[in-house]
Amino acid sequence: MAEAQDQQDARSADGELDAQDAQDKPIKQRKNGLYPAVSDELAAVMKSGWADTERTGLTPLPQASFAAVRRAALSARFPGERIVVPAGNLRTRSNDTEYPFRASTEYVHLTGDQTQDAVLVLEPLAGGGHEATAYLLPRSNRENGEFWLDGQGELWVGRRNSLTEAEQLLGLPCKDVRKAADTLREATGPVRVVRGHDAGVEAALADKVTAERDAELKVFLSELRLIKDAFEIGELQKACDSTARGFEDVVKVLDRAEATSERYIEGTFFLRARVEGNDVGYGSICAAGPHATTLHWVRNDGPVRSGELLLLDAGVETDSLYTADVTRTLPINGTFTPLQRKIYDAVYEAQQAGIEAVKPGAAYRDFHEASQRVLAEKLVEWGLLEGPAERVLELALQRRWTLHGTGHMLGLDVHDCAQARTETYVDCTLEPGMVLTVEPGLYFQADDLTVPEEYRGIGVRIEDDILVTEDGNRNLSAELPRQADEVEAWMAGLRG
Ligand code: GLY
Ligand code: MN
Ligand code: MN
Repeated sequence: MAEAQDQQDARSADGELDAQDAQDKPIKQRKNGLYPAVSDELAAVMKSGWADTERTGLTPLPQASFAAVRRAALSARFPGERIVVPAGNLRTRSNDTEYPFRASTEYVHLTGDQTQDAVLVLEPLAGGGHEATAYLLPRSNRENGEFWLDGQGELWVGRRNSLTEAEQLLGLPCKDVRKAADTLREATGPVRVVRGHDAGVEAALADKVTAERDAELKVFLSELRLIKDAFEIGELQKACDSTARGFEDVVKVLDRAEATSERYIEGTFFLRARVEGNDVGYGSICAAGPHATTLHWVRNDGPVRSGELLLLDAGVETDSLYTADVTRTLPINGTFTPLQRKIYDAVYEAQQAGIEAVKPGAAYRDFHEASQRVLAEKLVEWGLLEGPAERVLELALQRRWTLHGTGHMLGLDVHDCAQARTETYVDCTLEPGMVLTVEPGLYFQADDLTVPEEYRGIGVRIEDDILVTEDGNRNLSAELPRQADEVEAWMAGLRG
């Protein structure tokens, strides 16, 4: 068989090919110039001699029962409608190389599963409610050579769960995803799809859906994540604990970073994220010296110098895909200069005021306003802004140096619940189970002529992940010290 030959050729290598399977998913044979052909004899040999590895008696994933509750809420919100939630597809990096796959947040939240190309469908039932089905790519076909010839064959990318195994793990019926598009195309009745993840699924539904109704679905699913359940809180705590260990790793190798670059910090944290979790939840911001004043400094290619500050904003994403989002601003040599400490203490005070404003019944905006008030007062006190602070706050003049909002919801996405409506998010009242970051900062750009020269190039942010509890809050990232003396003592202890 010549390289880049198509399904027809795969059939010719296998007289017993299941035509239906082949039609559903053509084999995309990997190119291999060194092996231009598959002889009939080889095709026959490859088919047989493999053990049955089917697993039985699997216990459901810990999140399976929580996902069922979330699906029930979705079902109740859209009675009588078919709901389609794709996991998304691989994205090409170059040629036959792909970026690491990360399933869509909506799909993960509603299934606990992370399989590429999968689709969750909630089928309305005549008597009310829905039946949920996960459409997944099953184990590779050995009869038609798919398992070793197709680029996504199990021999290349690893064993998948069989549909029966997946049913046990996810606690819901599973079917072959290669039949999903046809099933959806043929179905009648109202339907909504989560857009932006799977162009093939969207194409199959193109004449049945509207942008407005699909947007409503996305908003609902975003809002469904506003309050975290016990599983999610446990995962976010795990993410924060791993993140704390990652920060410790970084402190221990700051001398290596000084000898190389910010990349050493990025790589060190990434090692912890990959060993204890799935990945980093977002590109780590490893910002030394004046780079700390760039909010999303992810190039991380600058020098790390004694006497300057390191702003490290990084989070481990757990294997279940919940992420921490933590920032510490550290003196690279272990000791703050008096000016660094003055600025750091102001941000610490602002963060403390913000965290104290996080409690059930408070307005979401309260923590932001509490933090901004402290920072505005400091800026007036330091002579950088003309008072009174009330006027500064009214005109938001402090923002020249505070730049960003003081926090956001956190969960599967680092900026979780981003499609939620204003009234359910920024204008909401905090409720137990919400998890949000509190992350005030002060940033004096290197070229800012409105501040004394010695301020220029200093950036400080402190960020923690705060769970709203029944009677106040719990700082999930409290493992990492925040107060300046405690930061110095912690660094000294780690560096020995
Ligand atoms: N790491 C991005 C943020 O803090 O929002
Ligand atoms: Mn952050
Ligand atoms: Mn954040």
